[in-house]
Amino acid sequence: MTYDDAILALSNDALRFVKDGHVVGLGSGRAATALVKSLAKLIKLKNYSIKGVPTSLQIKLIAEKGGIPLVEADQVDYIDIVFDGADQIDSQKYVIKGGGGALLRENVLFSLAKKVVVMADKTKFVKNFTIKIPVEVHPLARNSVTNSINKLGGSANLRTLDRGYPFFTENGNIILDCDFGTVKNPKILSQKIKQTAGVLESGIFLRKPDIIYKAKENGKFDII
Ligand code: A5P
Repeated sequence: MTYDDAILALSNDALRFVKDGHVVGLGSGRAATALVKSLAKLIKLKNYSIKGVPTSLQIKLIAEKGGIPLVEADQVDYIDIVFDGADQIDSQKYVIKGGGGALLRENVLFSLAKKVVVMADKTKFVKNFTIKIPVEVHPLARNSVTNSINKLGGSANLRTLDRGYPFFTENGNIILDCDFGTVKNPKILSQKIKQTAGVLESGIFLRKPDIIYKAKENGKFDII
């Protein structure tokens, strides 16, 4: 049994929160992919009328393949439930997102959601954040935001692809992965980052999940 088995098992469990007629936010990444594949099966089995709202082209392709009807975030006033993964979860239940670069759209969906469900394996649960914080930045603000991150006590690294080309988000922006060491006050840090001109999104989300699934290496999971 592996984390992947646990992610599959918890995806199936989490579907009990989905009701006929729901607008469902579809996060990005591995955990969201497992959920979306299970959701596609549920919709067919129960003949549910569900609308999915994708957070990225990555998950849109998975949802299309599963035959899930899709709408964009600007076509809905609210989302009943969002399912998404996370890169790290701290003891206050704040999450870091943006490992796949979809943070801006993910946070828009979190803000529209009545319920947010986050699914992650046990290794991502920490007391305080330790990984670099993804920050989506307008390309022309690269230097100014880098300087501001330095002033806040961090160091900004431009996210690049394998051969050194810059990574661009689906919104045409760059990502600065910002190292702040151990983050003791994520709320204040995220607010300061977001106040910086040229920053479109911070990977520390201030909307905490309503339900968190923790996948364990024995194929089982806990609900927090
Ligand atoms: C996408 O930008 C991210 O926020 C992902 O949701 C996050 O990286 C978790 O992905 P995995 O489920 O693949 O670990």
